[in-house]
Amino acid sequence: MGQKVRNPESIRDLTSEELQGVLSGVGASAGKALPQRVKIVEVGPRDGLQNEKTLVPTEVKIHLIDMLSEAGLPVIEATSFVSPEWVPQMADQVEVMKGINRRPGVSYPVLTPNLKGFQAAVKAGAAEVAIFGAASELFSKKNINCSVDESLQRFEEVTKAAKEAGVRVRGYVSCVLGCPYEGQVSPDKVAQVAKRLYSMGCYEISLGDTIGVGTPGGMAELLEAVSREVPVDALAVHCHDTYGQALANILIALQMGISVVDSSVAGLGGCPYAQGASGNVATEDVVYMLHGLGIQTGVDLPKLMDAGAFICRSLNRKTSSKVAQATCKL
Ligand code: HMG
Ligand code: MG
Repeated sequence: MGQKVRNPESIRDLTSEELQGVLSGVGASAGKALPQRVKIVEVGPRDGLQNEKTLVPTEVKIHLIDMLSEAGLPVIEATSFVSPEWVPQMADQVEVMKGINRRPGVSYPVLTPNLKGFQAAVKAGAAEVAIFGAASELFSKKNINCSVDESLQRFEEVTKAAKEAGVRVRGYVSCVLGCPYEGQVSPDKVAQVAKRLYSMGCYEISLGDTIGVGTPGGMAELLEAVSREVPVDALAVHCHDTYGQALANILIALQMGISVVDSSVAGLGGCPYAQGASGNVATEDVVYMLHGLGIQTGVDLPKLMDAGAFICRSLNRKTSSKVAQATCKL
């Protein structure tokens, strides 16, 4: 009797032995070892603070950004040029951009949902912007009030203007591992949106697990699909930690060739249009893990922890970083 050949439809159908085989095969076939260096994109001042109910004073935001650049973070998402009706917390974007001490070699991208936001960002001195789409129709509607297709048309206008102005554009795809309104999201749909953003000129596409529901299995399946359409060295992962899976998801992404990781100091944050999602993975925890793997980041962990302590004091909040909470020292 011949053995029945299993033909699983998705990575979720695999047994743990099969999954291990796939994961080691993925790394081996792509010829990828862990990267020697990882670029951390610090999103705390934007993603971390946008959801705060009480307005955070502008000078606190500015001081946080300056502490983060002092800690060696190479990219710090500073603010958003979005509607103040939609996200009141980011209404001081021009003052924030004016007040920060721009360190040479550090990028300070800002979110721009449309041409109006782009023009205001450039006027305020932004040299890099981020456009933010989604792989889910309902999230797109709730977050930026248009369909995925309409958003891509708006982003074409932004990328065209950015090319003319010599401004770099990063692209986000939100809800890549699940949507608060639609549930499951197909990796192919994510891959198609990522491909569109890449082909319109985004130099990097950040894949956002906006509600933090992903697992390493789902992340592997997603990256398999997206990296068929976008070169893996143009991809970043943006993990929220709602289900405590963020570091595991990042580790699998590193094994699959990703070397850009978004994170938020003190694990602050959440999206105002994704209720119940916890903050991004804490930058302190990502740095601790990366350094433990022998991967360089350029980040000074004690200085980063000072920045985390500062913002937590200012918000009167306990940190979500496990590393910052730890009291047993090596
Ligand atoms: P709308 O209401 O459809 O806009 O909002 P509209 O074009 O109909 O215009 C209405 C009014 O807004 C007009 O003003 C416009 O001028 C103004 P009025 O004439 O009535 O006085 N307006 C703007 N004002 C300031 N800046 C702008 C702008 N555009 C129009 N750029 C819009 C559409 C996109 C503006 C709105 O939905 C919006 O601002 N959404 C942003 C939501 C947001 O910031 N969400 C959080 C970030 S996404 C996220 O966190 C996920 C991510 O982190 C990845 C992950 O975690 O996975 C990126
Ligand atoms: Mg986010």
